Amino acid sequence: MSTIKHLFENNKKWAGKVTEEKPEFFQSLSEQQTPQYLWIGCSDSRVPANELLGMQPGEVFVHRNIANQVIHSDLNCLSVIQYAVEVLKVKDIIVCGHYGCGGVNAAFHDESNGFIDNWLRHIQDVYRFNQQKLDAVSDEAERVNLLCELNVIEQVANVCHTTVLRNAWLAEQNVTVHGLVYNLKDGILKDLNVSVSGNK
Ligand code: CO
Repeated sequence: MSTIKHLFENNKKWAGKVTEEKPEFFQSLSEQQTPQYLWIGCSDSRVPANELLGMQPGEVFVHRNIANQVIHSDLNCLSVIQYAVEVLKVKDIIVCGHYGCGGVNAAFHDESNGFIDNWLRHIQDVYRFNQQKLDAVSDEAERVNLLCELNVIEQVANVCHTTVLRNAWLAEQNVTVHGLVYNLKDGILKDLNVSVSGNK
C-alpha cells in the first residue's frame, strides 16, 4: 500500500513556517473568510489558483473542474457561485482556462477516454458554436489555443446567465465576471477582455 506519510511531514513544515512568519495567521483565518475573488479554473495540477495569483489561504474562493466549465445544470459549480456571490459577496469572478488544456485537446481531437467524453462534449459544442472562426485558422496548434480561449468566453457567458448573477445584478450588486487564459510555458495570465459587470 502506498503511504502519504511524507505529506503530513510537508504539512507540518508548511504550517510551522507560516506560523513563524505570522503567529496569528491560522487563528484569525479560522474565524472567517472574506475572499474578494472566485476562481473557476481547470483541475490541471499545473494551474494552481492561489500560487499563480500570489495569494494566501483566505484570499480566493476556488472551484475547479476539467476544462474550467460552467454547465447550466451543474449543481456543484452553481452552488459555489451562489455561495460566493450571495454569502461571501466576492467582487470578481475569474474564469481561467489555459493553453495546453488536456480536456480541450481531447475534445478537439474527438478522443475517447470513457465517461469523461460526456463532460467534454460541451467543449465540442463550443467548437460548433464557433466553427467558422476556428476553421479559418490553418495551424492546428493555434486552432486548439483559440478553442481554449473561446471555451473561456463561453463559460464567462454561462456564469453571466446563471440565476445567481442575473439576480445579483438586478439588485445592483457590484460583481464582475472576467475571462483569462494562463500560459503553462511562462506562467503568465492573459486577459481576454470579456469582463461583464451587469445584465445586458
Ligand atoms: Co486543463
